[in-house]
Amino acid sequence: MRELILAIESSCDETSVAVIEDGAIILSNIVASQIKSHQRFGGVVPEVASRHHVEQITLCIEEALAEADVSIDELSAVAVTQGPGLVGSLLIGISAAKAFAWAHNLPLIPVNHMAGHIYAARFVQPLIFPLMALLVSGGHTELVLMAEDGSYEIVGETRDDAAGEAYDKVGRVLGLPYPSGKEIDRLAHIGSDTYHFPRAMIHEDNFDFSFSGLKSAFINLVHNAEQRGEELSTENLAASFQASVIDVLVSKTLRACQEYPVKQLVVAGGVAANQGLRQALEEAVEQLPDLTLVIPPLRLCGDNAAMIGAAAHVELAKNHFADMSLNAVPSLAF
Ligand code: KG4
Ligand code: ZN
Repeated sequence: MRELILAIESSCDETSVAVIEDGAIILSNIVASQIKSHQRFGGVVPEVASRHHVEQITLCIEEALAEADVSIDELSAVAVTQGPGLVGSLLIGISAAKAFAWAHNLPLIPVNHMAGHIYAARFVQPLIFPLMALLVSGGHTELVLMAEDGSYEIVGETRDDAAGEAYDKVGRVLGLPYPSGKEIDRLAHIGSDTYHFPRAMIHEDNFDFSFSGLKSAFINLVHNAEQRGEELSTENLAASFQASVIDVLVSKTLRACQEYPVKQLVVAGGVAANQGLRQALEEAVEQLPDLTLVIPPLRLCGDNAAMIGAAAHVELAKNHFADMSLNAVPSLAF
């Protein structure tokens, strides 16, 4: 019998529901983005996000089941993101998952959103352990060592801003709409690294990151130029910023893969969609012939429920279920 998981993700500003077969096949993956409602505020407004999730969640569940051509009595379990994320947003997904599981007598599986990002790689190829995951999103920048399925050890993390957060803050200074990672990535390919921003902590003997100094250097440069009435090249600013972020991410990730003898490097989270980063990592791993690089396709880098279903498959095998007291944990750690 096939294992079919209905997975629900609502941690931030995407309402998403997927049906996943055997943890590796996407039968459906509906993603309702709210980005347009938040753009005019320059970031995600939690109250607005929750209201959108309420409107969308039932529709997304119906659409995911219909597109997968799966009836409710064929389902094996319901999985839902427990955290980290916005509490109001998480609670909509959790309430829907609990109601669905209770009504149809299905096991309920809580999933860590960041684990979900890593398991998006499962749709590209099976995970091979031990592996190193570079998690780069709007809220997180971490190097995570996985000895086996479901085991997570953070070996390095940002001391301040996440990589995606730095992209979004710098984008705001350039007058770009939120989130600005994709547009900065596009501009960076037109420009070149003429401003040479600092590469924070690149030579330090650890696997931690820091992006707030880069953000400040960027903002100071732009403001000082404005005061002097000087024109700066947006493309070169984007390229210089991106070169600094990529240099640090690639250099530290590669060192972590040498320090810990891993077989696979998984890159995940919204910033893993960055073309410059993907290309730089592909070139860098050529130095380590025993290492396989796995980066999910673009549509699975951002928030989606398919990745939650893939992570839930591992939890289902271990009978890691929740009862009806399941609650959201906004700062859920590994
Ligand atoms: O994983 P994600 O969709 O949501 C969180 O869990 O945070 O990541 C969103 C982040 C945003 O900061 C966005 O600007 C960034 O990912 N992002 C990118 C790119 N596409 C999205 N950053 C750099 N380059 C991109 N192409
Ligand atoms: Zn995410």
